[in-house]
Order: sequence, then structure tokens, then C-alpha cells
Amino acid sequence: MKTILECKNLCKSFGGLKAVDQVNFKVNEGEIVGIIGPNGAGKTTFFNVCTGVYAPTSGEVWFEGKNISTCEPDQIAGLGMARTFQNIKLFRDMSTLENVKLGFHIQLKTTLIDSIFHTKRYRREETFAAEKGMEMLRRVGIEEYAQMNAGNLPYGIQRKLEIARALALGPKILLLDEPAAGMNPSETMELLQLIRDLNSEGLTIVVIEHDMKFVMSLCQKVLVINFGQKICEGTPEQVTSNEEVKKAYLGERKTEKARVRKVAEHA
Ligand SMILES: Nc1ncnc2c1ncn2[C@@H]1O[C@H](COP(=O)(O)OP(=O)(O)OP(=O)(O)O)[C@@H](O)[C@H]1O
Ligand SMILES: [Mg+2]
Repeated sequence: MKTILECKNLCKSFGGLKAVDQVNFKVNEGEIVGIIGPNGAGKTTFFNVCTGVYAPTSGEVWFEGKNISTCEPDQIAGLGMARTFQNIKLFRDMSTLENVKLGFHIQLKTTLIDSIFHTKRYRREETFAAEKGMEMLRRVGIEEYAQMNAGNLPYGIQRKLEIARALALGPKILLLDEPAAGMNPSETMELLQLIRDLNSEGLTIVVIEHDMKFVMSLCQKVLVINFGQKICEGTPEQVTSNEEVKKAYLGERKTEKARVRKVAEHA
């Protein structure tokens, strides 16, 4: 199996806080990999370092045999790594289609001059982006929303739009940060199917998700992070029976119960 993404002793600190701490991890081509861990464990920071949002404090990120640790997000996206965000990042006043068209900008050659003077190249590339954009919307099943402002879309549709925009890059690997958050059960089922379909078409997928059932039914391999460190890696069965993983989640549940109790006391 060929490795597509590899992290070597990856660290990212914010001041004294080690948000990602010595993580070694490999993703093979064609896999669907899950990342789980309690709140604040460092999952999103891990994605942010892989995609160039933050440079690693130490350690390295390799993509298709190339050290990308010092690359900018645009360069990394251009190489074929796309992502979605835990806090949806859409242009709310632009239409659904316009949002997806932005995903193509890396592939297009239009300059400011072209767009001011509506040159032939501008018109050609606009047509290309609009056609491909619609194709991406159809791919995730939201073409009927093409002309609606992104800010007015139901939450689950916004999440799918983020995926469509990421697909516009023509990625080799897609990193999804809690894609099912805020979705209802039927939207979640559709999302599961979409991820499976994209994977069977050859896309490698890494997904951060809190919903254990979602991860267990989707992923062949799971990485568990707690306090920035990898505490376990393996099949869904292996990680759910791991003692350290159980402890991490039990701890989280206790914290949650204590929080609920506290809120109730102050109500
Ligand atoms: N830009 C930042 N500056 C300072 N601290 C940060 C920054 N981003 C994240 N952190 C801290 O790093 C730690 C890991 O955060 P991160 O968002 O990666 O966790 P997470 O596992 O994604 O959590 P959640 O499940 O809640 O999304 C947290 O303590 C967080 O407060
Ligand atoms: Mg997160």
C-alpha cells in the first residue's frame, strides 16, 4: 500500500500548550481514516498543521513523498489536499454556485485585467467554472440550491457545500472536520453514503468525527488523540477495546456530567 500522507514526530504548541505532541501517523492511498478524541484533544490543530494553516513547531508533514512542512495552504491545496472546516467557512452573501466556483480558482489563469475587461479567457474560464461548479453541486446532491445565498442554506446543506467546494480542487485526499455536526439522522446517512462513494471513486479520506457509530461504520483505521498525543491507532474494534481510549472517553463523560450538574445547580 502506498503512503499518501505521513506525519513524523509532529508537534504544534501554542505558548506552553502542546496541542499536537509527537504524533506519528500514516495514511495510505484509498483509505478512509477516522480521527477521534475528547474535546480539545488537538484534532483540528492536527488538520491545521497538515494543511499548512500552521507550520509545525517541530516534526514534519509529508504528502506523496514530498516534505510539505513549510508549504502555504494554497500550495498544499494545489498538490491535492483539500479540507472542510469544523466552523463552516462559506461566503454567506454569495450564492451556493459562486462559493463552489471559488474552489476552482487555483486551477484558473484569469488575471484581474481579464476580469475587468471580460476577455475571452475570462469568459471561457467563467463558463468552465460554472459548468464544473454545477457538476460538483450535483455530485453532493445540492444542485437545487445553486442560486440561493449560502448564508440562507440549512446547516446540513452548508456542510455539503463545503465538501463540494473542496472537491472542486480535484483533490487526492480530503480532510473532513466533523462533517456530520449539526446534521439530522437522514442527512448523516446521506453523508455516510457520499463519503463511501467518493472513496470508491479513488479519493482518500480522513475524517474527524465525534459520533462513534459514524466512525465505526465508515473507517478502516482510526487514530485516537488525547492531550495532543496519539494514544492508540488501529481498526475500529481495536480502538474501542483499548483501555486508554476507554479511560479518555470515560474521563470526558465524567467532565460532561459534572458540567451538567453544575449548570443544573445554578439554574
Ligand atoms: N490558535 C490557537 N491559539 C491558542 N490555542 C489554540 C489555538 N487553536 C487551538 N488551541 C488550543 O489547542 C488545543 C487543541 O484544540 P483543537 O481545536 O485542535 O482541539 P479539537 O480536538 O479539535 O477539539 P474539538 O473536539 O472541541 O473540536 C485546545 O486546548 C485549544 O484551546
Ligand atoms: Mg476540532
